[in-house]
Amino acid sequence: MNNIILKTALVLVVLTVPACATKVSNEATTAKYLEESRNTALEFRKKLGGVQKAQLESVGAENAIPVCKVIAPAMAAEYSQNGQILKRVSLKARNKALGTPDTWEKEVLEGFDKAQLAGKPVDVMEASTVSKEADGRWFRYVKAIPTQPQCLQCHGKPNEISAGMKALLAREYPEDMATGYSVGEIRGAISIKRKVN
Ligand code: HEC
Repeated sequence: MNNIILKTALVLVVLTVPACATKVSNEATTAKYLEESRNTALEFRKKLGGVQKAQLESVGAENAIPVCKVIAPAMAAEYSQNGQILKRVSLKARNKALGTPDTWEKEVLEGFDKAQLAGKPVDVMEASTVSKEADGRWFRYVKAIPTQPQCLQCHGKPNEISAGMKALLAREYPEDMATGYSVGEIRGAISIKRKVN
């Protein structure tokens, strides 16, 4: 009898140890990816913000459009390597093709807006998950981007956007939804996904 219990216990140990080990290593990977994604999102925002600020100061908003149109997606592509994908998404995208959130990103962004209404500061807003998709498991991370004063000439209320800028935006982005923001409001998010094995 004792022998059977012992054998059963041994079988259980043998069966559970590898499963536990996988779980622990998955958790370690997820924690590592979270840390790295936080850093990447921060670095991306800082880098793009720096280039944007320099352009706004040197050539003015209307001529800074290429920064947003060309450099931002190019910078996102630069960070989308080795199985990582970085995007900027928004519930009110200017560039529908690049900036439309998927189901999870949309849910997260809607949650961020609600949290902000409830008084949560935007700066600390982030979300992460591991999702099963048709092509495997992905680690997902989203970090909120607040609207800052220098964003308003391109994303603000109609009276804050020059006539020239309005014409330019209408020509370049006929489906633009990304105006009417005020400082502090969530403009969108940086979204990073990475394959988990
Ligand atoms: C000079 C005008 C200009 C300024 C200033 C500007 N943006 Fe944009 N923004 C754009 C344009 C143009 C696009 C569309 C880029 C593209 O085609 O991918 C865009 C796209 C975005 C997107 C991607 C999602 C979308 O709507 O397509 C985010 C997020 C964003 N801007 C945030 C900001 C924030 C935050 C600031 C201020 C720190 C800012 N922008 C300042 C013009 C501007």
